[in-house]
Amino acid sequence: MRIDIITVLPQLLESPFSHSILKRAIDKGLVEVNLINLRDYSTHKQKSVDDYPFGGGAGMVMSIEPISNCILSLKKEREYDEVIYTSPDGEVLNQRISNKLSSLNNLIILCGHYKGIDQRVRDHLITKEISIGDYVLSGGELAAAVICDSIIRIIPGAISDETSALTDSFQDGLLAPPVYTRPAEYNGWKVPEVLLSGHFAKIEDWRHEQSILNTKARRPDLLK
Ligand code: ADE
Repeated sequence: MRIDIITVLPQLLESPFSHSILKRAIDKGLVEVNLINLRDYSTHKQKSVDDYPFGGGAGMVMSIEPISNCILSLKKEREYDEVIYTSPDGEVLNQRISNKLSSLNNLIILCGHYKGIDQRVRDHLITKEISIGDYVLSGGELAAAVICDSIIRIIPGAISDETSALTDSFQDGLLAPPVYTRPAEYNGWKVPEVLLSGHFAKIEDWRHEQSILNTKARRPDLLK
């Protein structure tokens, strides 16, 4: 899989891909992530990528020209399955969307910034708009990192314990059950007896029951 991220702040995105599961997935060749500086596609002397909004109003708007230049030059090299724009008014990310994106080959993620983006980019160049929640971030970079993390960690081989990604919260429409590790008792607080029993069928039943109880208590909307 290949993910090309178009951003005005490539440095902001270096760290998330330099550690832990994402770094390992890249090192193993499961995914290639390219940070593309939008300013490299600006034809202005000052490398500007934004301008004042037509009709007036506060804030700057990301211009169509550098974005179009960048996307078209990427598309000359390969076909893309989706050209994603990160925006608070996109479809809210969930596990179903991440699973689907994770199965694709080539993605572009355009990070939004400033007051917005020339609408013609959204109308003609973007195929999917994703929000990571109902709040506004300063820019789309952190949203792009969240989207990439959720996609990459479920690529087969990205997590060493293969079953681990499959037992995540949301993967079966339920929240995950509680987990414990040693010591079996701390401060008088005990680990549930069944987990120490070594009886795997009983442990699985208990975990499933806890998942349902957890989901009912915290996210009953998921059970509908
Ligand atoms: N850019 C600003 N806020 C955002 C959000 N909530 N999701 C995705 N991109 C954003």
